[in-house]
Amino acid sequence: MAKILIGIGGGIAAYKTATLISRLVQSNHQVDCVVTAGGLQFIAAGTLTALCGRPPVSDTYDSRFPLGAHIELAQDAQLLIVAPATARLLASCAMGLADDLLATLYLAVECPVLFAPAMNTAMWEKVCVQRHVEMLQHDGVHFVGPTSGWLSCRRQGPGRMAEPEDILAASEEILQPQSFN
Ligand SMILES: Cc1cc2nc3c(=O)[nH]c(=O)nc-3n(C[C@H](O)[C@H](O)[C@H](O)COP(=O)(O)O)c2cc1C
Repeated sequence: MAKILIGIGGGIAAYKTATLISRLVQSNHQVDCVVTAGGLQFIAAGTLTALCGRPPVSDTYDSRFPLGAHIELAQDAQLLIVAPATARLLASCAMGLADDLLATLYLAVECPVLFAPAMNTAMWEKVCVQRHVEMLQHDGVHFVGPTSGWLSCRRQGPGRMAEPEDILAASEEILQPQSFN
């Protein structure tokens, strides 16, 4: 069993993250969700609460965490998965802005980090977005996807978030051998 943090950004692909969480919980992992304000536009807190067995956290100053949610959630975490990773999250994390709870948590964790980006093709191919991806890769962040396929903007192309099974496989690869035995 591993302690896994899931960060959810504001993209329609957030609905696929529900399946990822369910699979992780079924594999006996403890999952905590940190959702951006944008993420809550796409997936309900009730869905995440039921799947994780604990409520998601969005507020940096949530009074349930007297030491700071970013500090308490980061403690003993073995993996942070950000899915979907929006263009804003890629930029914020690449530059260390700590401008919301999830971007602050990114700085506070000492465990591996896996990003599953999702966005419109034009956004994904924008030079600044690719620059942020390269910066994060240089900093040791793992990436899965995006793949090419159907996008919610009614076009086909690169930018589709990796499927939950592929994110799960990438997570297992990062966590092995200590946590999946
Ligand atoms: C319908 C809709 C779908 C969106 N999908 C994406 C997306 O897949 N990827 C992305 O980077 N931004 C997407 N956005 C824009 C983000 O929600 C917006 O940039 C937001 O500021 C991201 O904030 P966050 O990173 O804090 O979640 C979408 C917006 C709307 C209205």
